[in-house]
Amino acid sequence: MSDFRVPTLTRRAFIASAAALSAGAMLPLQSSARAAGIREFRLRAKHGRAQIAPEPYGDTAVWCYDGKLPGPEIRVRKGERLRIAVENALGEETTVHWHGVRVPNAMDGVPHLTQAPVAPGETFTYEFDAVDAGTFWYHPHQRSFEQVGRGLYGPLIVEEVDPVRVDRDVTWVLSDWRLTKTAEMRDDFGSRHDMMHNGRVGNTVTINGRVPDVFAVRKGERIRLRLINAANARISGLDFGSHAPVVIALDGQAVEPHAPEGGLVVLGPAMRADIILDMAADAGSRVSVIDRFYKDLEYRLVDLAYDDQPLRDTVPDWPVALPPNPLPEPDLASAARHEVTFNGGMMGAMVMQEMGGSMGDGSSGAMGGMMGSMGGMMNMMHSGGIWFINGVAAEGHIMDPMLTLARDKSHVIAMTNATAWHHPIHLHGHSFRVISRDGKPTRHREWQDTVLMSPRERVEIAFVADNPGDWMLHCHVLEHQAAGMMGVFRVA
Ligand code: C2O
Ligand code: CU
Repeated sequence: MSDFRVPTLTRRAFIASAAALSAGAMLPLQSSARAAGIREFRLRAKHGRAQIAPEPYGDTAVWCYDGKLPGPEIRVRKGERLRIAVENALGEETTVHWHGVRVPNAMDGVPHLTQAPVAPGETFTYEFDAVDAGTFWYHPHQRSFEQVGRGLYGPLIVEEVDPVRVDRDVTWVLSDWRLTKTAEMRDDFGSRHDMMHNGRVGNTVTINGRVPDVFAVRKGERIRLRLINAANARISGLDFGSHAPVVIALDGQAVEPHAPEGGLVVLGPAMRADIILDMAADAGSRVSVIDRFYKDLEYRLVDLAYDDQPLRDTVPDWPVALPPNPLPEPDLASAARHEVTFNGGMMGAMVMQEMGGSMGDGSSGAMGGMMGSMGGMMNMMHSGGIWFINGVAAEGHIMDPMLTLARDKSHVIAMTNATAWHHPIHLHGHSFRVISRDGKPTRHREWQDTVLMSPRERVEIAFVADNPGDWMLHCHVLEHQAAGMMGVFRVA
């Protein structure tokens, strides 16, 4: 790690940070962050090779950062400022998006919308404050379906000033590859079939870039496991066997510690979960972690292999709740309301009929007008787009905003998934509370930046639009995004 990390805490910054400490919480966020010091990093996007499949398979040609898969873990402390020089040694344009980090618009890494794409041979330097502690990640926003799919991504961890006590803090970046029998990358990126169905789901799942065999643990050990789903399209639902994971953060944001619903830690593409895992099985035993998200397609992800020597006899009882990040609380009573409807894909027209779409009478409403009619659907298909947000299929990153949100005001966006497929919907520049699903209030009102919507589901999210600029809202199944499921919202 040390080869890409150049901490530069200058004497001036040190003095300033001491002053910031004594001034306490009175300082506004950005300036106290600035005072805490700048951490400098370098990332080089380039072609490389990685041992994805287990031996005796050979290695696989990938695109990656610094020759590593996943890219180097960028790890800073909350309140620090990051300066990251990204060099493009690929044969095509790229950018880097800091997924989930509440950055200023110009640092968001969206080609054409927030910056000119970084041409081959060029370097672009990103600079922003780590305002929130949590588990984030970075990836290109240019032709993501291929650039991310070939291996360009890495974890970005912002430590709490006062982290919860654990024995080990471990990051698992999950990814999914479509490999040939000789472990070469299938190069059918962006196929129309993947775009119309559930995206590029592969045949090889990795943890931190390798097909794992065992993960060594000790009885009595407490691990904070930071899970990041960096797959293009695969949704994971992890079952930790006899262990009882406790979710303490989602998408980097603290949540009331709780057992995951049905015992499965479910992560759509781009989503993260921090879990506390107490190693409560017997010394010398093995417990499999099984991914059960897709019915009848369960597979063993990895085995937790217990050492013969316990670390301690019982699991610790240290507190697990994380301190909250400084997120503005939306006021639901005064919030402006907006409707967003997703449709398209195979069987899309059928779902719209089922959900009560009108037959092309031009009426308004969530699925009214052209979106509601079978004929309208056919017209949309002929436009070349496959997926639509409020009836529009994106063709690039420059679009008229589909929503304009008054700055510093509270907003509720009611989102309807009028398709037969799952979609992890991501908003840039903000975290939002998930306040209801199918009309029922959520138990934890969790803060997220990416919310997984089931087929036909309606989800309401709420947030204060406090970050000015034009931001993306899109599905993080990268084939869906490429096939139109993307829009812009403006905060002004
Ligand atoms: Cu993780 Cu718009 O992206
Ligand atoms: Cu989608």
